[in-house]
Amino acid sequence: MALEFRRVCKTFGFGDAAVTAVDTIDFSVNAGEFVAVVGPSGCGKSTLLSMTAGLYAPTSGAVMVSGQAVTGPNAHVGFMLQKDLLLPWRAIRANVEFGREARGIPKAARRDRAMAELDRCQLCGFEGKYPYQLSGGMRQRAALARTLAIDPEIILLGEPFSALDAQTKLLLQDSFATTIAEAKKTTLLITHDLTEAVLMADRVLVLSERPGRIVAEIKVDLPHRDRPLKRRVLPEVGPIAAEIFGHLKLTEKAAA
Ligand SMILES: Nc1ncnc2c1ncn2[C@@H]1O[C@H](COP(=O)(O)OP(=O)(O)OP(=O)(O)O)[C@@H](O)[C@H]1O
Ligand SMILES: [Mg+2]
Repeated sequence: MALEFRRVCKTFGFGDAAVTAVDTIDFSVNAGEFVAVVGPSGCGKSTLLSMTAGLYAPTSGAVMVSGQAVTGPNAHVGFMLQKDLLLPWRAIRANVEFGREARGIPKAARRDRAMAELDRCQLCGFEGKYPYQLSGGMRQRAALARTLAIDPEIILLGEPFSALDAQTKLLLQDSFATTIAEAKKTTLLITHDLTEAVLMADRVLVLSERPGRIVAEIKVDLPHRDRPLKRRVLPEVGPIAAEIFGHLKLTEKAAA
């Protein structure tokens, strides 16, 4: 199993100030699988990602990557967020090289790898530009290239398209899906966009209001996981997104 959450609970703070973000999250992601996680604001989605990246430890339970418990930030997990977090003073190639540089990989090898990832992310010719010289969508592709360059086993995507305009978002979903499928990476995507979840994932987990618990697990049995633009026109997409929405509504009622 590539990624496992074993009865993961996370409580922040103590006593009266304690907030339980997620409660008894138990699920597994297969190698190469793409799982989307949706749920109401504040239900603990980002907390789940942060625990997978090793930024927080679970209060109880364990997050396992390839059978090993995550105990801190590590090179097995690549993390991407809404903000690209590219270093503004470094050209794009130098940004993509950064993770390998930090690990002392020789210059020629890390340069070759960076160029290969930039090619895969359709950024050939932009390697010498600085982040401010790229569009928002290109910066996100550069951030994906940087994530892939460290060759993680798991890619975590924390709402990576939510700050983009509608058209850029469609194109970028398509380009990310193709790149991730080619690279055969196990992926966990957090999103508020239910259609995006259906377009990109093999499986969608629906979390309840805080404390987040899994209320539904929906298998997206549709072709073209590597091409959301093609999946988008399939008649099943709308009904599956509506089914997910139904689960979210149910949890709202439960909280009322
Ligand atoms: N570092 C922290 N310290 C204290 N409380 C935290 C911390 N991180 C998250 N929380 C709390 O945990 C709960 C879940 O937060 P989280 O950011 O995981 O939700 P989310 O599902 O990602 O929400 P959104 O959809 O709005 O991004 C919230 O109540 C939040 O206040
Ligand atoms: Mg969040």
